Amino acid sequence: MAQQGPTAAQVWSDPAFATAWLGGDPDGARDLLALPRTIAAQLVAEEKPEPELVVDIASGAGKFLSVLLTAFPKARGVWTDVSETMLGQAREDLADFGDRVTFQVGDMQALRAAGLPEGVDVVLSSRASHHLDRAQLHAFYQEAAGLLAPDGWLVNLDHIGPEDVWDRRYRSVRKKHWAPRKPAPKHHHNYPLTSVEDHLDGYRAAGLTEVDVAWKAFYTCLFAGRRPQG
Ligand SMILES: C[S@@+](CC[C@H](N)C(=O)[O-])C[C@H]1O[C@@H](n2cnc3c(N)ncnc32)[C@H](O)[C@@H]1O
Repeated sequence: MAQQGPTAAQVWSDPAFATAWLGGDPDGARDLLALPRTIAAQLVAEEKPEPELVVDIASGAGKFLSVLLTAFPKARGVWTDVSETMLGQAREDLADFGDRVTFQVGDMQALRAAGLPEGVDVVLSSRASHHLDRAQLHAFYQEAAGLLAPDGWLVNLDHIGPEDVWDRRYRSVRKKHWAPRKPAPKHHHNYPLTSVEDHLDGYRAAGLTEVDVAWKAFYTCLFAGRRPQG
């Protein structure tokens, strides 16, 4: 595991921390990320109306995977994450999908060793890669892209570090109008977070095309790109 990885991965492996984070994660109407998750499924559906295999990396309780499996009833899903606490929660939250989901504990910084399948139609991740620095992020994208089938999608919904002037504006507006009822427990981040450009560069360096920011609000972006055919 790379140098900054253990701090991030270890905190999520602490059951008290993971449980506190899950308890504060907004649900229902207060979940601002419901929209980009749905947009991700709709964009995939435009090009791939019946994806067979979806892998969600650092899946947590499986919120993103759940949206894709609901949108694509014939798809199978692979949940993967480093945290046993998240595994327990995901088994409960994804139970309705039955044997369509398989669970694989593994490290997002060592995807090859995690024993994930290849030929994947959609590789997802959300709210996890911001723990990585630029070099680690690019290595992650390289490995994630390697799991894709030709024409497969890599979709990442994650937080970025904006320029200072935008950081101030976002922080102020969020505090005034969008403060969560229960803030997430504090955990380690490598500031400054990687930028939009770091992500787009990483996608392209991994050989992905049609790369774009499909949705953005404040610090959070929906990145999407495809592995070219052949
Ligand atoms: C903020 S939660 C997001 C969970 C889920 N993707 C979502 O958006 O609801 C971050 C997740 O990343 C996982 N994680 C952190 N470091 C990891 C690593 N090195 N390998 C795999 N998972 C990791 C944590 O266990 C946690 O489930």
